[in-house]
Amino acid sequence: MTIKEPVEDFATDWDHTDPQWVNDPYPIWDDLRGRCPVAHTERYGGGWFPTTHEMVSSIANDTTHFTSRMVVVTHTKYPPNFIPAPMGGAPPITSDPPFHQIARRVILPAFAPGPINALEPQIRALCNKHLDRLAGQVLIDGGTDYAQFIPPGVIATMLGFPPEDEEIFREIIHLVLDLIDLPPEVRGPMFEPVADYFTKQIEDHIANPRDDLTTYLMNVEVGGKKLSPEHVRGTIVLILIAGIDTTWSAIGSSIWHLARHPEDLARLVNEPELMPVAVEEFLRFYAPVTMARLVAEDHEFYGASMKKDDWILLGFPAANRDPDVFEDADKFIIDREVNRHAAFGLGIHRCIGSNLARLELRLALEEFIKRYPKFELADAQGVTWAPGQVRGPRQIPLRVLV
Ligand code: HEM
Repeated sequence: MTIKEPVEDFATDWDHTDPQWVNDPYPIWDDLRGRCPVAHTERYGGGWFPTTHEMVSSIANDTTHFTSRMVVVTHTKYPPNFIPAPMGGAPPITSDPPFHQIARRVILPAFAPGPINALEPQIRALCNKHLDRLAGQVLIDGGTDYAQFIPPGVIATMLGFPPEDEEIFREIIHLVLDLIDLPPEVRGPMFEPVADYFTKQIEDHIANPRDDLTTYLMNVEVGGKKLSPEHVRGTIVLILIAGIDTTWSAIGSSIWHLARHPEDLARLVNEPELMPVAVEEFLRFYAPVTMARLVAEDHEFYGASMKKDDWILLGFPAANRDPDVFEDADKFIIDREVNRHAAFGLGIHRCIGSNLARLELRLALEEFIKRYPKFELADAQGVTWAPGQVRGPRQIPLRVLV
Protein backbone atom coordinates (compact mmCIF):
# COMPACT_ATOMS: atom_id res chain seq x y z
CA MET A 1 0.00 0.00 0.00
CA THR A 2 1.26 3.49 -0.82
CA ILE A 3 0.96 6.18 1.82
CA LYS A 4 0.09 9.53 0.30
CA GLU A 5 1.58 12.86 1.26
CA PRO A 6 -1.05 14.90 3.10
CA VAL A 7 -2.05 18.08 1.28
CA GLU A 8 -0.46 21.26 2.60
CA ASP A 9 -1.93 23.73 0.11
CA PHE A 10 -5.07 22.80 -1.80
CA ALA A 11 -4.47 25.73 -4.20
CA THR A 12 -1.43 24.05 -5.72
CA ASP A 13 -1.83 20.40 -4.72
CA TRP A 14 -5.54 19.57 -4.32
CA ASP A 15 -6.62 16.01 -3.64
CA HIS A 16 -10.28 15.19 -3.20
CA THR A 17 -9.39 11.97 -1.36
CA ASP A 18 -7.37 13.81 1.31
CA PRO A 19 -9.05 13.20 4.70
CA GLN A 20 -9.41 16.95 5.29
CA TRP A 21 -11.42 17.32 2.04
CA VAL A 22 -13.39 14.11 2.61
CA ASN A 23 -14.46 15.11 6.12
CA ASP A 24 -15.23 18.80 5.52
CA PRO A 25 -14.52 20.27 2.08
CA TYR A 26 -16.47 23.52 2.50
CA PRO A 27 -13.82 25.64 4.30
CA ILE A 28 -11.29 24.49 1.68
CA TRP A 29 -13.54 25.61 -1.18
CA ASP A 30 -14.29 28.96 0.50
CA ASP A 31 -10.59 29.59 0.94
CA LEU A 32 -9.80 28.67 -2.68
CA ARG A 33 -12.64 30.79 -4.05
CA GLY A 34 -11.18 33.77 -2.21
CA ARG A 35 -7.58 33.50 -3.31
CA CYS A 36 -7.16 31.42 -6.49
CA PRO A 37 -10.32 30.69 -8.34
CA VAL A 38 -8.81 27.76 -10.32
CA ALA A 39 -6.79 25.44 -8.07
CA HIS A 40 -4.21 23.07 -9.54
CA THR A 41 -2.71 19.68 -8.75
CA GLU A 42 -0.02 17.46 -10.19
CA ARG A 43 -1.71 14.43 -8.63
CA TYR A 44 -3.70 12.02 -10.83
CA GLY A 45 -1.59 13.09 -13.82
CA GLY A 46 -2.48 16.77 -13.41
CA GLY A 47 -5.72 18.69 -13.10
CA TRP A 48 -7.72 21.77 -12.16
CA PHE A 49 -10.45 22.60 -9.69
CA PRO A 50 -12.55 25.69 -10.49
CA THR A 51 -14.45 26.94 -7.46
CA THR A 52 -16.95 29.57 -8.63
CA HIS A 53 -20.43 28.99 -10.07
CA GLU A 54 -19.49 31.09 -13.11
CA MET A 55 -16.52 28.88 -13.99
CA VAL A 56 -18.29 25.59 -13.29
CA SER A 57 -21.18 26.71 -15.50
CA SER A 58 -18.88 27.88 -18.25
CA ILE A 59 -17.06 24.51 -18.36
CA ALA A 60 -20.28 22.47 -18.19
CA ASN A 61 -21.60 24.45 -21.16
CA ASP A 62 -18.42 24.24 -23.26
CA THR A 63 -18.18 20.85 -24.95
CA THR A 64 -15.55 22.10 -27.40
CA HIS A 65 -12.76 22.74 -24.91
CA PHE A 66 -13.84 20.07 -22.40
CA THR A 67 -14.73 16.45 -23.12
CA SER A 68 -16.82 14.07 -20.99
CA ARG A 69 -14.79 11.10 -22.22
CA MET A 70 -13.82 10.40 -18.60
CA VAL A 71 -15.98 11.73 -15.75
CA VAL A 72 -14.27 10.13 -12.76
CA VAL A 73 -10.75 11.26 -11.82
CA THR A 74 -8.40 8.28 -11.40
CA HIS A 75 -4.75 7.58 -12.12
CA THR A 76 -5.44 6.56 -15.70
CA LYS A 77 -6.96 8.55 -18.55
CA TYR A 78 -6.93 5.72 -21.08
CA PRO A 79 -8.00 2.58 -19.21
CA PRO A 80 -7.98 -0.87 -20.86
CA ASN A 81 -11.08 -1.55 -23.01
CA PHE A 82 -11.41 2.20 -23.37
CA ILE A 83 -14.28 3.26 -25.66
CA PRO A 84 -13.34 6.57 -27.30
CA ALA A 85 -15.44 9.69 -27.91
CA PRO A 86 -18.05 10.47 -29.00
CA MET A 87 -19.79 7.57 -27.19
CA GLY A 88 -17.45 6.75 -24.32
CA GLY A 89 -17.89 3.83 -21.97
CA ALA A 90 -21.13 4.90 -20.27
CA PRO A 91 -23.39 6.86 -22.64
CA PRO A 92 -24.75 9.53 -22.35
CA ILE A 93 -22.60 10.73 -19.42
CA THR A 94 -19.34 9.89 -21.22
CA SER A 95 -20.60 11.06 -24.62
CA ASP A 96 -19.82 14.29 -26.44
CA PRO A 97 -22.03 15.98 -29.06
CA PRO A 98 -23.53 15.09 -31.42
CA PHE A 99 -23.74 11.47 -30.21
CA HIS A 100 -24.65 12.63 -26.70
CA GLN A 101 -28.08 13.81 -27.77
CA ILE A 102 -28.97 10.43 -29.31
CA ALA A 103 -27.84 8.53 -26.21
CA ARG A 104 -29.74 10.91 -23.92
CA ARG A 105 -32.98 10.83 -25.92
CA VAL A 106 -33.02 7.05 -25.79
CA ILE A 107 -33.40 6.97 -22.00
CA LEU A 108 -35.30 10.22 -21.34
CA PRO A 109 -38.80 8.67 -21.61
CA ALA A 110 -38.07 6.22 -18.78
CA PHE A 111 -37.29 9.12 -16.42
CA ALA A 112 -40.18 11.44 -17.35
CA PRO A 113 -42.53 12.55 -14.53
CA GLY A 114 -45.30 10.08 -15.53
CA PRO A 115 -43.41 6.79 -15.16
CA ILE A 116 -41.39 8.10 -12.22
CA ASN A 117 -44.38 9.36 -10.18
CA ALA A 118 -46.02 5.97 -10.70
CA LEU A 119 -43.22 4.48 -8.56
CA GLU A 120 -44.37 6.37 -5.45
CA PRO A 121 -46.33 3.53 -3.75
CA GLN A 122 -43.53 1.08 -4.41
CA ILE A 123 -40.85 3.43 -3.00
CA ARG A 124 -42.94 4.21 0.09
CA ALA A 125 -43.41 0.48 0.67
CA LEU A 126 -39.65 -0.07 0.32
CA CYS A 127 -38.94 2.67 2.91
CA ASN A 128 -41.42 1.14 5.33
CA LYS A 129 -40.05 -2.36 4.84
CA HIS A 130 -36.67 -1.15 6.07
CA LEU A 131 -38.15 0.94 8.88
CA ASP A 132 -40.21 -2.05 10.08
CA ARG A 133 -36.98 -4.02 10.39
CA LEU A 134 -35.72 -1.45 12.93
CA ALA A 135 -38.85 -1.43 15.07
CA GLY A 136 -38.13 -1.19 18.80
CA GLN A 137 -34.45 -0.19 18.41
CA VAL A 138 -33.25 2.97 20.12
CA LEU A 139 -29.86 3.03 18.41
CA ILE A 140 -30.03 2.87 14.63
CA ASP A 141 -27.74 3.84 11.79
CA GLY A 142 -29.36 6.25 9.32
CA GLY A 143 -26.85 5.16 6.67
CA THR A 144 -26.23 1.44 6.98
CA ASP A 145 -29.71 0.60 8.32
CA TYR A 146 -31.73 2.84 6.02
CA ALA A 147 -30.36 5.26 3.36
CA GLN A 148 -28.19 2.68 1.60
CA PHE A 149 -31.17 0.39 0.97
CA ILE A 150 -33.59 2.77 -0.75
CA PRO A 151 -31.99 3.54 -4.16
CA PRO A 152 -30.69 -0.01 -4.88
CA GLY A 153 -34.19 -1.41 -4.50
CA VAL A 154 -35.59 1.15 -6.97
CA ILE A 155 -32.82 0.73 -9.56
CA ALA A 156 -32.96 -3.09 -9.37
CA THR A 157 -36.66 -2.92 -10.27
CA MET A 158 -36.08 -0.46 -13.14
CA LEU A 159 -33.27 -2.50 -14.67
CA GLY A 160 -34.86 -5.86 -13.88
CA PHE A 161 -31.87 -7.02 -11.84
CA PRO A 162 -32.30 -9.32 -8.81
CA PRO A 163 -33.12 -7.06 -5.81
CA GLU A 164 -31.18 -9.43 -3.54
CA ASP A 165 -27.99 -8.38 -5.41
CA GLU A 166 -27.95 -4.97 -3.73
CA GLU A 167 -24.72 -5.77 -1.85
CA ILE A 168 -23.10 -6.47 -5.24
CA PHE A 169 -24.36 -3.04 -6.46
CA ARG A 170 -22.73 -1.35 -3.47
CA GLU A 171 -19.45 -3.20 -4.12
CA ILE A 172 -19.48 -2.05 -7.75
CA ILE A 173 -20.10 1.56 -6.68
CA HIS A 174 -17.36 1.35 -4.06
CA LEU A 175 -14.90 0.22 -6.73
CA VAL A 176 -15.94 2.78 -9.36
CA LEU A 177 -16.37 5.83 -7.14
CA ASP A 178 -14.47 5.29 -3.88
CA LEU A 179 -11.37 3.23 -4.77
CA ILE A 180 -10.19 5.82 -7.30
CA ASP A 181 -6.81 6.28 -5.73
CA LEU A 182 -5.61 2.69 -6.28
CA PRO A 183 -2.82 2.17 -8.81
CA PRO A 184 -4.27 1.10 -12.21
CA GLU A 185 -2.55 -2.32 -12.03
CA VAL A 186 -4.42 -3.06 -8.79
CA ARG A 187 -7.74 -1.42 -9.72
CA GLY A 188 -7.95 -2.74 -13.30
CA PRO A 189 -8.28 -6.48 -12.49
CA MET A 190 -10.92 -5.67 -9.85
CA PHE A 191 -13.31 -4.83 -12.72
CA GLU A 192 -13.30 -8.39 -14.10
CA PRO A 193 -16.02 -9.78 -11.74
CA VAL A 194 -18.01 -6.58 -12.33
CA ALA A 195 -17.90 -7.13 -16.10
CA ASP A 196 -18.95 -10.75 -15.54
CA TYR A 197 -21.89 -9.65 -13.40
CA PHE A 198 -23.25 -7.35 -16.13
CA THR A 199 -22.69 -10.04 -18.78
CA LYS A 200 -24.75 -12.45 -16.68
CA GLN A 201 -27.63 -9.96 -16.35
CA ILE A 202 -27.58 -9.13 -20.06
CA GLU A 203 -27.55 -12.83 -21.03
CA ASP A 204 -30.46 -13.45 -18.68
CA HIS A 205 -32.42 -10.66 -20.41
CA ILE A 206 -31.61 -12.06 -23.87
CA ALA A 207 -32.95 -15.45 -22.74
CA ASN A 208 -35.93 -14.00 -20.83
CA PRO A 209 -36.97 -10.60 -22.25
CA ARG A 210 -39.28 -8.68 -19.90
CA ASP A 211 -40.83 -5.29 -19.29
CA ASP A 212 -37.87 -3.36 -17.89
CA LEU A 213 -35.25 -0.82 -18.92
CA THR A 214 -32.65 -3.46 -19.83
CA THR A 215 -34.95 -5.18 -22.34
CA TYR A 216 -36.07 -1.77 -23.63
CA LEU A 217 -32.45 -0.77 -24.32
CA MET A 218 -31.81 -4.03 -26.17
CA ASN A 219 -34.79 -3.49 -28.47
CA VAL A 220 -35.03 0.26 -28.98
CA GLU A 221 -34.14 1.47 -32.47
CA VAL A 222 -32.54 4.76 -33.48
CA GLY A 223 -32.85 5.51 -37.21
CA GLY A 224 -34.01 1.93 -37.82
CA LYS A 225 -31.00 0.39 -36.06
CA LYS A 226 -30.69 -1.21 -32.64
CA LEU A 227 -28.10 0.17 -30.22
CA SER A 228 -24.67 -1.47 -30.27
CA PRO A 229 -24.06 -4.02 -27.48
CA GLU A 230 -21.42 -1.64 -26.00
CA HIS A 231 -23.97 1.16 -25.91
CA VAL A 232 -26.61 -1.01 -24.18
CA ARG A 233 -24.12 -2.27 -21.65
CA GLY A 234 -22.57 1.16 -20.99
CA THR A 235 -25.97 2.76 -20.34
CA ILE A 236 -27.03 -0.04 -17.99
CA VAL A 237 -23.78 0.36 -16.03
CA LEU A 238 -24.31 4.13 -15.90
CA ILE A 239 -27.87 3.89 -14.59
CA LEU A 240 -26.84 1.46 -11.89
CA ILE A 241 -23.99 3.68 -10.74
CA ALA A 242 -25.63 7.10 -11.24
CA GLY A 243 -28.88 6.01 -9.65
CA ILE A 244 -27.63 4.56 -6.37
CA ASP A 245 -24.73 6.27 -4.61
CA THR A 246 -25.98 9.76 -5.51
CA THR A 247 -29.42 9.43 -3.97
CA TRP A 248 -28.24 7.32 -1.04
CA SER A 249 -25.77 10.15 -0.26
CA ALA A 250 -28.50 12.81 -0.52
CA ILE A 251 -30.80 10.85 1.82
CA GLY A 252 -27.93 10.27 4.26
CA SER A 253 -26.80 13.91 4.34
CA SER A 254 -30.37 15.08 4.94
CA ILE A 255 -30.84 12.67 7.86
CA TRP A 256 -27.46 13.73 9.26
CA HIS A 257 -28.56 17.38 9.04
CA LEU A 258 -31.88 16.72 10.78
CA ALA A 259 -30.11 14.80 13.57
CA ARG A 260 -28.07 17.92 14.33
CA HIS A 261 -30.80 20.52 13.77
CA PRO A 262 -33.87 19.71 15.87
CA GLU A 263 -35.47 23.02 14.83
CA ASP A 264 -35.47 21.95 11.16
CA LEU A 265 -36.69 18.45 12.08
CA ALA A 266 -39.57 19.96 14.09
CA ARG A 267 -40.56 22.20 11.17
CA LEU A 268 -40.73 19.26 8.77
CA VAL A 269 -42.73 17.20 11.27
CA ASN A 270 -45.19 20.07 11.91
CA GLU A 271 -45.31 21.50 8.38
CA PRO A 272 -45.14 18.51 6.01
CA GLU A 273 -46.01 20.78 3.06
CA LEU A 274 -42.53 22.31 3.46
CA MET A 275 -40.83 19.08 2.35
CA PRO A 276 -40.48 19.81 -1.42
CA VAL A 277 -38.83 23.19 -0.66
CA ALA A 278 -36.62 21.61 2.01
CA VAL A 279 -35.56 18.90 -0.46
CA GLU A 280 -34.17 21.61 -2.77
CA GLU A 281 -32.15 23.11 0.09
CA PHE A 282 -30.84 19.67 1.10
CA LEU A 283 -29.77 19.22 -2.52
CA ARG A 284 -28.11 22.64 -2.72
CA PHE A 285 -26.37 22.59 0.64
CA TYR A 286 -25.23 18.95 0.61
CA ALA A 287 -25.00 18.44 -3.18
CA PRO A 288 -23.40 15.01 -3.44
CA VAL A 289 -22.14 14.90 -7.04
CA THR A 290 -18.90 16.33 -8.44
CA MET A 291 -18.18 15.29 -12.02
CA ALA A 292 -15.02 15.46 -14.09
CA ARG A 293 -14.02 16.52 -17.59
CA LEU A 294 -10.80 16.24 -19.57
CA VAL A 295 -9.38 19.28 -21.32
CA ALA A 296 -9.95 18.67 -25.04
CA GLU A 297 -7.34 21.10 -26.35
CA ASP A 298 -4.70 23.45 -24.91
CA HIS A 299 -6.19 26.80 -23.92
CA GLU A 300 -6.26 29.55 -21.29
CA PHE A 301 -9.13 29.50 -18.80
CA TYR A 302 -9.43 32.32 -16.26
CA GLY A 303 -5.64 32.66 -16.25
CA ALA A 304 -4.95 28.92 -16.02
CA SER A 305 -2.90 27.37 -18.86
CA MET A 306 -4.85 24.20 -19.45
CA LYS A 307 -3.27 21.39 -21.45
CA LYS A 308 -5.01 18.65 -23.43
CA ASP A 309 -5.91 15.69 -21.17
CA ASP A 310 -5.61 17.65 -17.90
CA TRP A 311 -8.40 16.72 -15.50
CA ILE A 312 -11.10 19.18 -14.49
CA LEU A 313 -12.89 18.42 -11.25
CA LEU A 314 -16.27 20.01 -11.90
CA GLY A 315 -17.48 21.01 -8.45
CA PHE A 316 -21.25 21.46 -8.67
CA PRO A 317 -21.33 21.31 -4.84
CA ALA A 318 -18.76 24.15 -4.66
CA ALA A 319 -20.83 26.19 -7.16
CA ASN A 320 -23.82 25.75 -4.84
CA ARG A 321 -21.93 27.52 -2.04
CA ASP A 322 -20.83 30.50 -4.16
CA PRO A 323 -21.84 33.70 -2.28
CA ASP A 324 -22.03 35.64 -5.58
CA VAL A 325 -24.97 33.48 -6.64
CA PHE A 326 -26.71 32.44 -3.40
CA GLU A 327 -27.62 34.81 -0.59
CA ASP A 328 -26.21 33.47 2.69
CA ALA A 329 -24.70 30.64 0.66
CA ASP A 330 -23.10 29.06 3.72
CA LYS A 331 -26.38 28.92 5.67
CA PHE A 332 -28.90 26.08 5.43
CA ILE A 333 -32.29 27.81 5.09
CA ILE A 334 -34.99 25.16 5.11
CA ASP A 335 -37.57 27.43 3.44
CA ARG A 336 -35.20 29.16 1.00
CA GLU A 337 -37.45 30.72 -1.62
CA VAL A 338 -35.12 31.23 -4.59
CA ASN A 339 -32.94 28.18 -5.10
CA ARG A 340 -31.60 27.64 -8.62
CA HIS A 341 -28.97 25.17 -7.41
CA ALA A 342 -26.59 23.16 -9.58
CA ALA A 343 -26.80 19.85 -7.68
CA PHE A 344 -28.07 18.10 -10.81
CA GLY A 345 -25.42 19.69 -13.00
CA LEU A 346 -25.55 22.36 -15.69
CA GLY A 347 -25.51 22.16 -19.48
CA ILE A 348 -26.22 19.23 -21.78
CA HIS A 349 -25.41 16.51 -19.22
CA ARG A 350 -27.88 17.79 -16.61
CA CYS A 351 -29.15 14.86 -14.58
CA ILE A 352 -31.73 12.65 -16.29
CA GLY A 353 -32.69 11.08 -12.98
CA SER A 354 -33.64 14.31 -11.19
CA ASN A 355 -37.38 13.48 -11.02
CA LEU A 356 -36.56 10.09 -9.53
CA ALA A 357 -33.92 11.47 -7.15
CA ARG A 358 -36.29 14.15 -5.83
CA LEU A 359 -39.08 11.60 -5.37
CA GLU A 360 -36.85 9.11 -3.53
CA LEU A 361 -35.38 11.81 -1.30
CA ARG A 362 -38.80 13.22 -0.41
CA LEU A 363 -40.38 9.83 0.30
CA ALA A 364 -37.38 8.49 2.22
CA LEU A 365 -37.43 11.57 4.49
CA GLU A 366 -41.22 11.66 4.86
CA GLU A 367 -41.39 8.04 5.97
CA PHE A 368 -38.33 8.36 8.22
CA ILE A 369 -39.62 11.35 10.17
CA LYS A 370 -43.13 9.87 10.42
CA ARG A 371 -41.50 6.93 12.22
CA TYR A 372 -38.93 9.04 14.10
CA PRO A 373 -40.23 12.58 14.75
CA LYS A 374 -37.32 13.10 17.19
CA PHE A 375 -33.80 11.75 16.87
CA GLU A 376 -30.24 12.91 17.42
CA LEU A 377 -26.68 11.85 16.64
CA ALA A 378 -25.65 9.09 19.03
CA ASP A 379 -21.97 9.42 18.20
CA ALA A 380 -20.72 12.39 16.16
CA GLN A 381 -17.27 10.78 15.80
CA GLY A 382 -18.86 7.67 14.33
CA VAL A 383 -20.08 9.52 11.21
CA THR A 384 -17.98 8.52 8.18
CA TRP A 385 -17.95 10.05 4.68
CA ALA A 386 -17.50 8.48 1.26
CA PRO A 387 -14.32 9.73 -0.42
CA GLY A 388 -14.09 11.00 -4.00
CA GLN A 389 -16.66 12.54 -6.27
CA VAL A 390 -19.91 11.45 -4.66
CA ARG A 391 -20.07 12.81 -1.13
CA GLY A 392 -22.38 11.48 1.54
CA PRO A 393 -22.26 9.97 5.02
CA ARG A 394 -21.86 6.21 5.10
CA GLN A 395 -22.38 5.67 8.84
CA ILE A 396 -24.78 7.92 10.77
CA PRO A 397 -25.19 6.54 14.32
CA LEU A 398 -28.52 7.85 15.66
CA ARG A 399 -30.46 7.72 18.91
CA VAL A 400 -34.22 7.68 18.63
CA LEU A 401 -35.84 10.04 21.16
CA VAL A 402 -39.32 9.82 22.63
C1 HEM B 1 -29.56 13.26 -5.56
C2 HEM B 1 -29.33 12.43 -6.55
C3 HEM B 1 -28.60 12.79 -7.80
C4 HEM B 1 -27.73 13.81 -8.05
C5 HEM B 1 -27.27 14.90 -7.09
C6 HEM B 1 -27.30 13.68 -9.43
C7 HEM B 1 -26.40 14.54 -10.05
C8 HEM B 1 -26.04 14.47 -11.37
C9 HEM B 1 -25.15 15.41 -12.03
C10 HEM B 1 -24.43 16.53 -11.33
C11 HEM B 1 -25.08 15.06 -13.33
C12 HEM B 1 -24.29 15.79 -14.42
C13 HEM B 1 -23.07 15.04 -14.80
C14 HEM B 1 -22.12 15.80 -15.70
O1 HEM B 1 -22.28 16.99 -15.96
O2 HEM B 1 -21.15 15.17 -16.13
C15 HEM B 1 -25.90 13.89 -13.52
C16 HEM B 1 -26.08 13.22 -14.71
C17 HEM B 1 -26.82 12.06 -14.84
N1 HEM B 1 -27.57 11.45 -13.87
FE1 HEM B 1 -27.84 12.07 -11.96
N2 HEM B 1 -27.90 12.61 -9.98
C18 HEM B 1 -28.72 12.04 -9.05
C19 HEM B 1 -29.54 10.92 -9.21
C20 HEM B 1 -29.68 10.22 -10.38
C21 HEM B 1 -30.57 9.09 -10.56
C22 HEM B 1 -31.51 8.53 -9.51
C23 HEM B 1 -30.38 8.67 -11.86
C24 HEM B 1 -31.03 7.52 -12.60
C25 HEM B 1 -31.36 6.40 -12.20
C26 HEM B 1 -29.41 9.53 -12.48
C27 HEM B 1 -28.98 9.42 -13.77
C28 HEM B 1 -28.15 10.32 -14.41
C29 HEM B 1 -27.76 10.20 -15.81
C30 HEM B 1 -28.18 9.08 -16.76
C31 HEM B 1 -26.92 11.29 -16.07
C32 HEM B 1 -26.21 11.61 -17.39
C33 HEM B 1 -27.00 12.60 -18.20
C34 HEM B 1 -26.28 13.02 -19.48
O3 HEM B 1 -25.09 12.79 -19.62
O4 HEM B 1 -26.94 13.59 -20.36
N3 HEM B 1 -29.00 10.46 -11.55
N4 HEM B 1 -26.49 13.57 -12.30
